[in-house]
Amino acid sequence: MSVNEKAPIANHGQVPHYGSLGAGNGDDGAGPNSVGPEKEKSLTFHQVGYEVPTLCGRRTKVIISSCSGIMRPGLNALMGPTGSGKTTLLDVLADRKGRRGPSGDVLINGSRRPKNFKCVSGYVVQDDLIMGSLSVRENLAFSAALRLPSGTTWNQRKERVDRVIQELGLVSCAGTKVGNEFFRGVSGGERKRTSIGMELIIQPQVLFLDEPTTGLDAFTAVSVVKLLKRLSESRTIILSIHQPRYSIFSLFSSLTLLSRGSMVYHGPAQQVLPYFESLGFPCAEHENPADFILDVLTTCEKKSISNDTIVAMDTSRLHPPNQGSK
Ligand SMILES: Nc1ncnc2c1ncn2[C@@H]1O[C@H](COP(=O)(O)OP(=O)(O)O)[C@@H](O)[C@H]1O
Ligand SMILES: [Mg+2]
Repeated sequence: MSVNEKAPIANHGQVPHYGSLGAGNGDDGAGPNSVGPEKEKSLTFHQVGYEVPTLCGRRTKVIISSCSGIMRPGLNALMGPTGSGKTTLLDVLADRKGRRGPSGDVLINGSRRPKNFKCVSGYVVQDDLIMGSLSVRENLAFSAALRLPSGTTWNQRKERVDRVIQELGLVSCAGTKVGNEFFRGVSGGERKRTSIGMELIIQPQVLFLDEPTTGLDAFTAVSVVKLLKRLSESRTIILSIHQPRYSIFSLFSSLTLLSRGSMVYHGPAQQVLPYFESLGFPCAEHENPADFILDVLTTCEKKSISNDTIVAMDTSRLHPPNQGSK
């Protein structure tokens, strides 16, 4: 099924159901009180849009429109020029935009997101919310105290913090203060890994990250994304990223390209260059695919070419015949 095809609504329009997408039904009782690891989750979204009222209040401004697709367990990247709507789409998928504004359906394993989706999914914001005056371990313990169910014992919380420290390779800096603008602390990569760890404390099956490599040097950025790749073996990771180098790009399982709030590609990351080539945009042999793609999109945006005419950027053409269906 291509993302543009209207998926079947199985249960008479009460709860939209876009086919079976995984083992679970989305309502697995994983409330904030469940601590144990959960089964894998796929996230599907259908005709998702987001608009905000303009200043005069009479009209609305469309930020994203008609985005449909599926994010399976693995590393799913959202790319596009600045202002294309990456963070907005991420927020809408993560249910962090409130009730007014978002439209369309977002499903987990084919069923509506649970009401507590914000509590059971992880979201690492672009500017880390982390306390510089606390150590790495203290920040993780703080997150555990806030986010694990009240019935969790001190030992269980400590065990969870220890596991995250091990998993993210933070053992050597666990006792170091994170640092802030007034005093130096851990490195940028360790700081980002601590932010990710604060979300991993709840063992989320869906983890969102907004531009996790921003502000990191090239080597650290690669190591952070390699870490995410490893973590994505057992969970669905959706990250927005601006212009990754090739070693990062090659780690993506799926790629979603946005331009001016519309999806222009959604499918396997390895298929994007053949797709662009088939539309008359060949990528030179030694060019970084991410740079090339953003150049094409930015040029088209600058020339005010509509998304329809650029490359017939219609998501139905973006899937090879046997991809994107389940
Ligand atoms: N609440 C809002 N009100 C008005 N414009 C907004 C609002 N939120 C986002 N935008 C605009 O929507 C566009 C997309 O924003 P964003 O999702 O942050 O893009 P990206 O993350 O790709 O840089 C930007 O031009 C931004 O200014
Ligand atoms: Mg953004």
